[in-house]
Amino acid sequence: MSLNRRDWLRASVLSGLGLAAAPAAFCEPEQLIPAGYNPPKGGAIKARLSANENPYGPSPKALKTISEAAPDGFLYAGEYTKKFRKQIADEEGVPEEYILLGAGSGELLTAASLWAAYRANAGRTIVAPDPTFDALPRTAVRHGLTMERVPLVAADGYDINLNKLNDRIGSQTGMVYLCNPNNPTAIIVDPAKLRAFCESVGSKTPILVDEAYIDYTPNPKAYSMVDMVKKGHNVIITKTFSKVHGFAGLRTGYMVAKPELLEEIAKFSTNGGCLSMTTVRAASASLQDKEFIKFSLGKTQESKDFLHAALKQHGYEPLPSGANFVMFPIRMKGEDFVGRMMEQGVSVRQWKFDGQYWCRVSLGTMDQMKAFTDGLKVIS
Ligand SMILES: Cc1ncc(COP(=O)(O)O)c(C=O)c1O
Repeated sequence: MSLNRRDWLRASVLSGLGLAAAPAAFCEPEQLIPAGYNPPKGGAIKARLSANENPYGPSPKALKTISEAAPDGFLYAGEYTKKFRKQIADEEGVPEEYILLGAGSGELLTAASLWAAYRANAGRTIVAPDPTFDALPRTAVRHGLTMERVPLVAADGYDINLNKLNDRIGSQTGMVYLCNPNNPTAIIVDPAKLRAFCESVGSKTPILVDEAYIDYTPNPKAYSMVDMVKKGHNVIITKTFSKVHGFAGLRTGYMVAKPELLEEIAKFSTNGGCLSMTTVRAASASLQDKEFIKFSLGKTQESKDFLHAALKQHGYEPLPSGANFVMFPIRMKGEDFVGRMMEQGVSVRQWKFDGQYWCRVSLGTMDQMKAFTDGLKVIS
């Protein structure tokens, strides 16, 4: 389908739903403004590049399905959820008992951290790289676990050093958590090294591999650790529809693990019960819309190439990105960078690690990337 036909289809689906074709304006910029900084001129954000969302989604087929499913919204989604679980299991090449559905993978990361916190006779620490996605560590700490953090450093190219993680594992370890690609660095862990790690470490402690961004890697099936689950290893995978499928606001995710692990973790979840009728049917349609995925990945790559070139032109050195965002070291305090970019109408996020401030910028549309580079020129 050409882009024009796609745009037309998206517009006609949206107008059928009584909605405008342009994405909704983000109306709460205040939440993202650091103290001491002003909102963007006119109050509106031009480019929201702070949450790794996919501005192209949901796919036209998913939108059409939502409009068809909405009148059935008074029904519980049960049968559709069951069918969707089977569809995911087929997609992953595992039996259904290996799949746990959630309203986003965040729900499942929470379930996994609660399981780790309340599991009998298990270690009280979680070993994880630092920085990484904070949802699981945050919940784990709230429930009495301790995080054993392994800092990412320049000497490793900010890659996750699996040997260093291994060195921290002992009788006190209850779980290893890592994201591949990692958030916020976007760096991909070498899949062969990660497989060897899963094989050797899995006999000591479960390893949760968060694959929220796996679809952006050069070969998602080959980079995924689902095959380690199939081989019976002590590995738990989470995946989400929030990224390449553009479902961040619709909420769909899933976990893949062997049934004896999954049944225990499921006790801390709604077992797919939080998925709505519209979402589950739309996710099912989106899974079949391979053309949209291709389109979405192509557009993200275009924005990545543009951004990398622009950053280099301005003397910034971005880390290699295997996801839909880019991390680069900045030359001012992170809060000031975020505040000044926000005044330019662009929201981004900042980190401080390895003695350095960093900006993480999500890959949006080309117009959004241009708003980002224009803002960067003004503040640099
Ligand atoms: C690494 C990682 N895992 C999980 C999530 C949660 O995604 P969701 O709850 O939308 O599926 C995110 C969200 O940005 C993420 O970056």
